[in-house]
Amino acid sequence: MKILVTGGAGFMGSNFIRYILEKYPEYEIVNLDKLTYAGNLENLRDVEKNPHYTFVKGDIAKAEDVDRAIGEGVDVVINYAAETHVDRSILDPRAFLDTDIYGTYTLLEAVRAGKAGRMVQISTDEVFGMVHDAKEEFAEDTRFDPSSPYSASKAGGDLMCSAYFRTYQTPVIVTHSCNFYGPNQYPEKLIPLFATNLLEGKKIPVYGKGDQFREWIFVSDHCRAIDVILHKGTVGEVYNIGTRQRKSNLEITKSILRQLGQGEDMIEYVTDRPGHDFGYAVNPDKLMRELDWKPEVDFAEGLAQTIDWYKNNEDWWEKIKSGEYRDYFEKNYSRRNELLNLK
Ligand code: NAD
Ligand code: DAU
Repeated sequence: MKILVTGGAGFMGSNFIRYILEKYPEYEIVNLDKLTYAGNLENLRDVEKNPHYTFVKGDIAKAEDVDRAIGEGVDVVINYAAETHVDRSILDPRAFLDTDIYGTYTLLEAVRAGKAGRMVQISTDEVFGMVHDAKEEFAEDTRFDPSSPYSASKAGGDLMCSAYFRTYQTPVIVTHSCNFYGPNQYPEKLIPLFATNLLEGKKIPVYGKGDQFREWIFVSDHCRAIDVILHKGTVGEVYNIGTRQRKSNLEITKSILRQLGQGEDMIEYVTDRPGHDFGYAVNPDKLMRELDWKPEVDFAEGLAQTIDWYKNNEDWWEKIKSGEYRDYFEKNYSRRNELLNLK
């Protein structure tokens, strides 16, 4: 099988490429990535010489880049490429529309033209909006109700997928997953930001009261879910990917503090994220029942492994935090407060 992975230099894309090359050494992988701030080829150092792996630098929103990566044709496109950080989308939505909507459309056009056999769209539970408590769950057919420019852009891309299937029978599958965590996650997201701040002796900014909750999936469980969807999923279908492991931000914060031997005095409660979704809770029964998948990693065990990885890989995140990321946050934290009328 020849697979085009887009956004393969990012957090989950790079973990997925490594997973596939290990499990199916005969498969060919082409990685098309624009190398935005979140794309990091260091994530793939160990596979870059693998003869079954090719990297192409390019933009999923440019048809000529997509054609160059597809070459003579691929069996499947797996679209991991996206602008992914909610806070960045609040500050500056434009890139989210370009990549998450227009980029998805460009890939769908390539599939519609027969250059790829089918497409798997990697999307998020955030398109459904929020739940107030974990007894309400998002089903595959829950109405979209996105809160941020990020989730609205992902919803736009997903709606193009279902429209292409209905109108042109373009073979596409959409997935909606809960929050990912694990090694190589860019240190702007909750778990890696808090772990690395504490390792640097810095405080950790909890938004609002920290009572919001998320549902968490470890990288390897998400890779296994995409593996079964890729091989056994039905085109035109939507699959939720969830674990029912739901934790409040404060519970996670306290676990990270405990693991790093630090106290709650390191918490700084800061102004809440505007439009902050209170909770996400995914119903994964369809994937479990129809494709025989279930999560294997318990949150406490996955979190411990993740924190250990950040402890042992300072080199990886220090380069990020001392460069573009630092400049971005220094520039935007004051601008964010001004723009959003926050104190
Ligand atoms: P990430 O931010 O770590 O990486 C995104 C990658 O996409 C980067 O390598 C970046 O360079 C690349 N990219 C961005 N714009 C591009 C473009 N126009 N053309 C080509 N490449 C481009 O992402 P992640 O957190 O691993 O998320 C991967 C996917 O999973 C995204 O589609 C995201 O919406 C979805 N998702 C993420 C989570 C999560 O918790 N992180 C949960 C559910 C779904
Ligand atoms: O649900 C899936 C989504 O999960 C993905 O689609 C997104 O790409 C991914 O970024 C993630 O979105 P969240 O907004 O849930 O992730 P984030 O790590 O930004 O925040 C997790 C929670 O922690 C959220 O309630 C906000 C809070 N938070 C986050 C940061 C960065 C803080 O309290 N302080 C922080 O500094």
